[in-house]
Amino acid sequence: MRIDILTLFPKMFDGFLSESIIKRAINNGKVEINVIDFRKYSLLKNGQVDDTPYGGGAGMVLMCEPVIRAIEDLKTDDSLVILTCPQGNVYNEKIAYDLTKHKHLIIVCGHYEGYDERIREFVDVEISIGDYILTGGEIPAMAITDSVTRLIDGVINKDSYLEDSFTNNLLDYPTYTKPADFRGMKVPEVLTSGNHAKIKEYRKNEQIKRTKERRPDLLENYHEE
Ligand SMILES: C[S@@+](CC[C@H](N)C(=O)[O-])C[C@H]1O[C@@H](n2cnc3c(N)ncnc32)[C@H](O)[C@@H]1O
Repeated sequence: MRIDILTLFPKMFDGFLSESIIKRAINNGKVEINVIDFRKYSLLKNGQVDDTPYGGGAGMVLMCEPVIRAIEDLKTDDSLVILTCPQGNVYNEKIAYDLTKHKHLIIVCGHYEGYDERIREFVDVEISIGDYILTGGEIPAMAITDSVTRLIDGVINKDSYLEDSFTNNLLDYPTYTKPADFRGMKVPEVLTSGNHAKIKEYRKNEQIKRTKERRPDLLENYHEE
């Protein structure tokens, strides 16, 4: 998969791309991630990409021309163009999974007050990462890229993400590591029993219990395998 991220602040991605699982996925050829400064698509002097809003009002607005020129330059028949936007579909694991089916994602990061409305005509989907406002689309672009990349075959162990929260409309079960007794807080006996069938049953029951307590809304779409 290839992911192109259009941003005015490419340096924000330096740490994100050079650590841990994302770095390994890039090095192993599982994903190609390009961070592109759309200032280079500006036709104005000094690479200007924003201006004041027509009709007045606070803040600067990203101009449509450089963003649309960038999309047109990068887009192929296999591309899905995503606009990061607090007014878009609220992101979740199912959307992340659906995005893995595309060969090429182009993610547009807004900034400042937002962008010229006409940009929307050139995008396929608008994604919000929650009902709050960030200064720009860079953190949403990282959230989308990270959550999609970890689902690409061979990036992490499949068993690990199949039991992650939200995969089957359940939250994950509680996990423990050594020591077995920390200040009197003991690891549930079943986990040290070596009985794999019992452990499996315990974990599934804990997933259902947790989901009932914390996210009963998810259970509406949960189906026992
Ligand atoms: C300050 S926000 C603009 C908010 C816009 N004026 C509004 O109220 O809908 C600047 C940019 O950050 C990104 N952004 C901010 N919050 C976001 C969120 N919750 N999800 C996705 N993108 C977000 C978008 O790209 C947005 O254009």
